[in-house]
Amino acid sequence: MADLSVDIGGLKLKNPVMTASGTCGFGPEMEPFIDPSDLGALVVKGTTLKNRDGNPYPRMAETPSGMLNSVGLQNKGIDYFKEFTYPRIKKYNTSVIINVNGSTVEDYVELTEIINDLDGIDAIELNISCPNVKMGGMVFGTHLPAAEKVIKAVRKVCKKSMMVKLSPNVTSITDFAKLAEAEGADSISLINTLLGMAVDAKTRKPVLSTVTGGLSGPAIKPVALRMVWQVAAAVKIPVIGIGGIMNATDAAEFMIAGATAVQVGTAMFIEPTAAVDIVKGLDKYLDDYGFDKATDLISTLDKQ
Ligand code: FUM
Repeated sequence: MADLSVDIGGLKLKNPVMTASGTCGFGPEMEPFIDPSDLGALVVKGTTLKNRDGNPYPRMAETPSGMLNSVGLQNKGIDYFKEFTYPRIKKYNTSVIINVNGSTVEDYVELTEIINDLDGIDAIELNISCPNVKMGGMVFGTHLPAAEKVIKAVRKVCKKSMMVKLSPNVTSITDFAKLAEAEGADSISLINTLLGMAVDAKTRKPVLSTVTGGLSGPAIKPVALRMVWQVAAAVKIPVIGIGGIMNATDAAEFMIAGATAVQVGTAMFIEPTAAVDIVKGLDKYLDDYGFDKATDLISTLDKQ
């Protein structure tokens, strides 16, 4: 068995496979299917200061090789999380990461300060890339000065490892990655979903209530791989690859392209054991190809 452990900016993970935010609830929802302790890290659903009902239905649509979502950061807010969810998930024998969201810089800062006091939370994933909200999210992550403001402000107060989740809906993702690194991010996760839409030709109406939504799944994997490869070459901090990872081979491809770890999202809707299956499959891949350590696979793309 290979050594699967990786280090993402001072945070040691037992293996490189995490769940992607928004695809596994807060952890307890997955307990009938997997032991969350088998994951490298559990990234919980996007969390905000106050309760959010999310966007009106319909807010999911299937597409060829993927899906669109426009959930709109539905969650019960940090107070509910602290009282009901945190006591349960802090017992998992794995790293727990909260995906942090806000409408304003002040929201992000206040939420981060509350999370500082939760000893069982190992890191925050600063989400400046949700495409489904009118304020915050991608509004910050697609404009360099706005991104700088929020990353700087959160870094100032954040006492935990800080991962910044980037949007692919920009011309040059490396500019945002370099900015995150310069502002003190410990790691970078990418990509969040690509902005898309679906139309019902019978009714001539948009399929999603919000018209547009975020595309995920195998359809976006080549774009995600390309961006991970570009970002890994542009920064020194660890990169976490996300985008259409359905199996261990996909995970290995992202690591070869430069990712230190990966997140599994859409695959969890098809097979709720997918992330844990990928841990096992990655172990086998490393054995099959003669790697003693997962870290030896990172950035081994052979361009000859
Ligand atoms: O709509 C959503 O809740 C999606 C969030 C995200 O993509 O970060």
